[in-house]
Amino acid sequence: EQIEKGGYEHFMLKEIHEQPNAISDTYRGRMLVDQGLIRMAGVDDNMERIANAKRFIIVACGTSWHAGLVAEYIFEDIARIPVEVEYASEFRYRNPVISENDVVIAISQSGETADTMAAIKLAKEKGAFTFGVCNVVGSSISRETHAGAYTHAGPEIGVASTKAFTTQITVLTLMALKLGKFKGTISHSDFQFHLQELERIPEKVREALKSDELIQEVAAKYKDAPNCLYLGRGYNFPVALEGALKLKEISYIHAEGYPAAEMKHGPIALIDEQMPVVVIATKRGHYEKVVSNIQEIKSRKGKIIAIVTEGDEEVRELADYVIEVPEIMESLTPLLTTIPLQLLSYHIAVMLGKNVDQPRNLAKSVTVE
Ligand code: AGP
Repeated sequence: EQIEKGGYEHFMLKEIHEQPNAISDTYRGRMLVDQGLIRMAGVDDNMERIANAKRFIIVACGTSWHAGLVAEYIFEDIARIPVEVEYASEFRYRNPVISENDVVIAISQSGETADTMAAIKLAKEKGAFTFGVCNVVGSSISRETHAGAYTHAGPEIGVASTKAFTTQITVLTLMALKLGKFKGTISHSDFQFHLQELERIPEKVREALKSDELIQEVAAKYKDAPNCLYLGRGYNFPVALEGALKLKEISYIHAEGYPAAEMKHGPIALIDEQMPVVVIATKRGHYEKVVSNIQEIKSRKGKIIAIVTEGDEEVRELADYVIEVPEIMESLTPLLTTIPLQLLSYHIAVMLGKNVDQPRNLAKSVTVE
């Protein structure tokens, strides 16, 4: 097992650090930047059916559901296809309205999650075209769906999903770009710019990983907090949910993720000098609005841990801790902002002496409902 961990103390840490390579493995062979092309057999072979869908319905659980939420923004922005994102466990029992014009996308690292599998079977019965985004090659969901795309993240052993999340977002971004290009909803120059930016992600993730020491300091400071709030807006709202899930599942600290603007509709009541609030406040995407949310937290004496774009000075004035990520176009920020949140939960769990790779009560793949 020590050999499999490749010198890291835990699989989770190894998998966090594998992300630069995992992401490039996901787009390698698919993204041909010089030719301005994206090749994805599962999409190419079914282009008319997928691109002409009236609606995408994404079904998933847990972290994969969070990747689906990010994909909702991406598909709507780039390919102008309406998207609904559903918990597979709710969708399958809701008598949902599904038609032959819908494409149902299942996202699943393991490809074995029982509820996601049942949702796909239901969608097929109702005549929808189904598409699987799985990591495990030959898994049940990848076999059950009409077409699909693998994430190629390599084996993920840690129960807390890390590289599966970022590679799911990568593959769904490629899919959206490909559809946008086919439909003409993205200009050639924008398409090219996206490809170039995506190609720079691995190097930028490496850069983001360098905050590890600072994050350990933050972890030591807040590890005994009983609660923690995570806030983000737009593309980074699902990242806030994912950050909170990571903390809950491996450190057993109660955490909640919220869209930052929703704070004043309830969660703000929780904020006092004991409450750490992790806020994603990167430059692109509602920056000024998030800054005003940070001011609201500060005036209630909450402790602010901000994830910001490199060089940010405005938030530094307000926050207790500032963790920088490199600059990138807005739709790709989740691939960077999620990195410090993974590391934060990891270090808190280690400092609390928890079983990081196999947290209590959890299984890597939930094959029963
Ligand atoms: C994430 O850290 C989880 N352990 C869990 O939420 C997981 O993402 C979920 O069970 C879905 O699994 P899947 O991607 O294999 O379908």
